[in-house]
This record gives sequence, structure tokens and C-alpha cells, in this order.
Amino acid sequence: MRRVVNNFSMDYEDHGKGIPLVFVHGFPLSRRMWQPQLSGLSDIARIITMDLRGHGDSEAKPGPYSMELMADDLISLLDVLNINERVILCGLSMGGYVVFSSFRKYRERIAGLILTSTRAGADSQEGKLQRDQTVSKVESDGKEPVIEGMLPKLMAPATYEQKPDLVNMVRDIMLSISTEGMVGDLIAMRDREDSVPLLNAIDIPTLIIHGTEDQIIPVTEAEKMEAGIPNSRLRVLPSAGHLPNLEQPVLYNQEVSRFLINF
Ligand code: MLT
Repeated sequence: MRRVVNNFSMDYEDHGKGIPLVFVHGFPLSRRMWQPQLSGLSDIARIITMDLRGHGDSEAKPGPYSMELMADDLISLLDVLNINERVILCGLSMGGYVVFSSFRKYRERIAGLILTSTRAGADSQEGKLQRDQTVSKVESDGKEPVIEGMLPKLMAPATYEQKPDLVNMVRDIMLSISTEGMVGDLIAMRDREDSVPLLNAIDIPTLIIHGTEDQIIPVTEAEKMEAGIPNSRLRVLPSAGHLPNLEQPVLYNQEVSRFLINF
């Protein structure tokens, strides 16, 4: 499905009935990464997934992008769909940064949070420099080298050994990002606000999910979020890397289903 939101054409899916549960994908992915959640959870909630600007089938607007802009896009989709009730927001990695930004600006629209494979802190000085180097690489060599460099780090060793179809699907999803989207995301991540000071103001139920073998964001970041957010609990999934919803879809969906009992 496709609608114009915040002055661009956004592709999204909307299935099921019940409390709206909105999934926000990570970098450099698309809504296709939430397929096991669309099929496995739409009997207990209204599942909405979307391609952020420049990703998947959504329009590739030139930058600059920011977390706040992506939060505006997400809330704009809720407005276009006439969703006035409070929603649960679930973000993975960069999607988690968008969720923090949404909470900062639109907290009255949000009933609960699911923070997957993400962190609250901003980029370090070194991290910011790496973002700039990656932007230069994308501008000189295109997006493929960045994707091929990232692919071997995204999942757990067992996933690469046992699920080659999943690895190919993830590569495919990553290749669907536009150059504008990749550069826009990198700059938005580089410049994102520090959400650590926000943690103790998060006064809604929060589920944190992380893979034991996440090489991109270590599990200690999830533990810090659990320590900072008053009404939160952390679930660490075994044999999962940075994409636990794809690597351990049954366990992931079980945790989300249990969390939904709060609403
Ligand atoms: C992501 O997986 O969304 C990004 O790699 C997160 C990041 O680079 O900070």
C-alpha cells in the first residue's frame, strides 16, 4: 500500500485488528525485515510496517534526513491512516533511534515501546568520523561495498551456517535502499541526539530485546537501557545477532505477544 505522508510517497503494510503495533526497520533495511512479525502477530494486534524515506519502495527524497524527520514521517502515516488511539512503537537499531525521537516529540501518541538491538547513546567522536568516511565511500563507490562489508556482521554465526536463504534475503533487502537513503541515514545517525537523559522519563511499558551475539550493538547497551527505563524488562535471545526478529522469529514473537498483555 502507498500513501503520501509528509510530502513523499511512503510504502507500508497494515494488517490485523487490535492495538496498533508499528514496526520501524534499521539501517540499511526495509519493512520486508518484519515479515515474520506481520504473519505471526497480526491475529493479536494491528501490525503496521513501513519503508522509511529512501528505503525499499518508498520515495527516495534527497537529504538532509534526521531522526526527527523520520519520526514526523511515522506520525504522519498514523494521521493519514486516522489512527488516533495510542500505539506501540517497535524499532530495531536505527529504528530504535527513530522511536526515541518519536517519544521525545509525540509521547502522547505512544502507549508502549519495544526497543530491539538498539542503544540510547549518541555517536562518539570516532563514530561520527566513521559515518563521514562511510558517506564518502558511498559517494565514490556506491552503496554495494558498504552493504557487502556489513552483511557478515549482521547475524549470528549459526545463522550464516544454517540459514543461507535468510542471508540472501537480507542482502536483497539492503540492496533496495537508495543512495539518497543511505547517505541520509548515515548523517541522521551521526547527528542524532543522546537519548540517555530521556531514559528515566520513559513512563510507559517498555520491552527491550537483544541477541546474545549482536556484533553491531553489544548487549551491554540493552542492559544500560533496562537499568535506565523504570518500567522495562530485557529479554536476550540465544543464537541471534543484530536481527533477532528474523533469526529467532518464534522466540521474538513470543516475547512481543507476552508484552502485549500489558495493553
Ligand atoms: C542499524 O543497524 O540500524 C545501524 O547499523 C545502527 C548504527 O549504525 O548505529
